Amino acid sequence: MSAKILDGKAIAASIRAEIKDEIANDDIKCGLAVVLVGEDEASKVYVRNKIKACADTGIKSYAYYLQQSTEEDEILQLIDALNNDSNIHGILVQMPLPSHINEKKIISAIDPSKDVDGFCAINLGKLFLGEKDVLAPCTPSGIIEILKRSNIEISGKRAVVVGRSNIVGKPAAFLMLKENATVTIAHSKTQDLGLITSSADILIVAAGKQELITQNMVKKGAVVIDVGIHRTENGLKGDVQFDEVSKVAQAITPVPGGVGPMTIAMLLKNTLNAAKKFKSV
Ligand code: GUN
Repeated sequence: MSAKILDGKAIAASIRAEIKDEIANDDIKCGLAVVLVGEDEASKVYVRNKIKACADTGIKSYAYYLQQSTEEDEILQLIDALNNDSNIHGILVQMPLPSHINEKKIISAIDPSKDVDGFCAINLGKLFLGEKDVLAPCTPSGIIEILKRSNIEISGKRAVVVGRSNIVGKPAAFLMLKENATVTIAHSKTQDLGLITSSADILIVAAGKQELITQNMVKKGAVVIDVGIHRTENGLKGDVQFDEVSKVAQAITPVPGGVGPMTIAMLLKNTLNAAKKFKSV
C-alpha cells in the first residue's frame, strides 16, 4: 500500500484563488499590517512570503521593519496606532521577538478583531468555547482545511495530536474536537508514545522533532498530518519518517508542500474574514 499524498500546495492555491476572486468580485478593501522586529533570517523569509501572498490576492500589506534594539514601548505604540487605523483589518507581529520583548504583552495588545494569527487569549478562549467565526491560528486551521477538502471524515474518528504548543498543538486539538473527533494530546513527556499514536485514525504531528514518528507507531490506514519542518543536508524533513510511514498510511502530507503552504493561505483567509466583519460592524 502506498499513501495518497495530501497536496497542501494545491489546496492552498485553490484557497488563495477563492480569496482573490472574492476580494475582486465584492470589491472588498482589505489591509494587513506585518511587523518584523530584528534580523532573524527565517522570519525575514516568512514575512517576505506573506507580503507577496497579499499582493497576489489583492490584500494591501503595510510592512513595518523595526530594529533588533527596538524598545517594547515603541512596538506597543505602533500596535495602538494600527488598532485605530481603519485601513488595517489584520495585524501580524512575526514571532519570535527579540529576548528583551515580552511576546505575551505584545500579542495581548493587538485588538482581538484584528488578531489574524489567532494568538491572543480572547481568540483562543473563543476557540476553547467552540464559538463560530473565530480567528483561529493559521496552521491548525490549515490542517482542518486539508482534511475537509480531501474528503477525510473527522467526526467520530480518533485523533491524536503530538505536541502541545499554543500555536499548533493545543488549537489543533480544539479544532478537531469542534469537528467531533475524539482527541488525545501527546507530548514530550508522554510515556509509550507509540502506543498512543498507533491508536489514531488521524495523526497530527507537531512535535518539532525530526522524523520522530516511525512506521511502527502508525496504524494501518491512518491519515497522517506532518507539521514539522527541519532543514537538513538532504533537504527539508518533517516530524514523520515519510517514506516508511507512507507504506502504512492511507494518506499523508509531504514536507515540503503539505501543511506549510496552508499557513499563509489561512492567514489571508483570516484577514479577509476580519475585513468583512469590520465592514459589517
Ligand atoms: N512565527 C512562526 N510561525 C508564525 C506565525 O504563524 N505567525 C507569527 N506571527 N509568527 C510566526
